[in-house]
Amino acid sequence: MTYVIAEPCVDLLDRACIDECPVDCIYEGSRMLYIHPDECVDCGACEPVCPVEAIYYEDDVPQQWASYSSVNADFFATLGSPGGASRVGPVPQDPAQIVAMPKVEHED
Ligand code: F3S
Ligand code: F3S
Repeated sequence: MTYVIAEPCVDLLDRACIDECPVDCIYEGSRMLYIHPDECVDCGACEPVCPVEAIYYEDDVPQQWASYSSVNADFFATLGSPGGASRVGPVPQDPAQIVAMPKVEHED
């Protein structure tokens, strides 16, 4: 299993979650961040620090965001399993579902 980042992260990218992950498995795309499903160790440390509650254990992803399990996994289709986000840095791409979304405005 894994934790999953869902829609509230899109166009916000708060990045507070990155500092909490002991295995550096939260990767930055263009419009949101993604958790590597095979590298995540299910520690749960990232989930409470997200200010917009974008992070869920895979079994607990709200129904309206169920597709985000696949969205997170799809981000790694070409990256594979790099074994650490900090060595990869931001990757200027997103899965098709995210690319297709209209820009999301967030309040400051
Ligand atoms: Fe996104 Fe929340 Fe992390 S907005 S970058 S999942 S802290
Ligand atoms: Fe990392 Fe633990 Fe979250 S392994 S992605 S901080 S659940």
